[in-house]
Amino acid sequence: MHIRVQGYTMAYTDTGQGLPLLFIHGYPLNRRLWEPQAEGLADIARILAPDLRGHGDSQAVPGSYSMDLFAGDLSAFLDALGITQPVVLCGLSMGGYVAFAFYRKYAVRLAGLILTATRAAPDSPEARAGRDLAAAQARENGVAAIIEGMLPRLLSPKTVEHRPELVAQARAIMVHTSLEGILGDLAGLKERPDSTQTLPEIKVPTLILPGEDDEIIPIQEAWALQAGIPGSRLVVIPNAGHLPNLENPQAFNQAVRQFIEDL
Ligand code: MLT
Repeated sequence: MHIRVQGYTMAYTDTGQGLPLLFIHGYPLNRRLWEPQAEGLADIARILAPDLRGHGDSQAVPGSYSMDLFAGDLSAFLDALGITQPVVLCGLSMGGYVAFAFYRKYAVRLAGLILTATRAAPDSPEARAGRDLAAAQARENGVAAIIEGMLPRLLSPKTVEHRPELVAQARAIMVHTSLEGILGDLAGLKERPDSTQTLPEIKVPTLILPGEDDEIIPIQEAWALQAGIPGSRLVVIPNAGHLPNLENPQAFNQAVRQFIEDL
């Protein structure tokens, strides 16, 4: 499905009924990341999964994609669908950074937060330099070079060794990112604010779902989120790296199901 949002065309998935559960993918991914949740959770919630601008089937818009810009897109997306009731927002990695921005701007629109494979801290100086290098590499060698560089660390070593079909699936999802999308993300990621001060202000029920073997955002970051967000719950997803919802959908969906039932 497609809808006009903030002057561009956004692609999205909308399936199931009930409490809206809004899934936000990471960099450089798209809504197909959430297929196991669309299949496994549509009996308890209305699953909404947009492609962020420049990703998947959404329009590629040039420019820097700040986390605030993405948050504004998501609020406009909910408006366009006529959704006024509070939603549960689930953000993975960059999607988690967007979730913090969304919380700061639109807390009243939230019934709960699910933060997976993400962190509150901003980029270190080294990470910022890495974003510039990645942007130069993307301009010079194309999107595929970025994807091949990320893939070995994206999934858990066990997944890489024993489940080549999942590696192929992750690659197939990521190749649907435009160059504008990659460059827009990298610019926004580099400039994103520190969300550490936001954590104690979060007043909605929050579930934190790290992948046990995440090499991109180590599990310690998830413990720091739990320490910072009052009353938050943390469930470690075993046999998973940076994409826990895809690598272990059974454990991931079970944790989300329990969280929704307890709301
Ligand atoms: C992501 O998965 O969204 C990225 O790894 C986030 C990041 O690079 O900080």
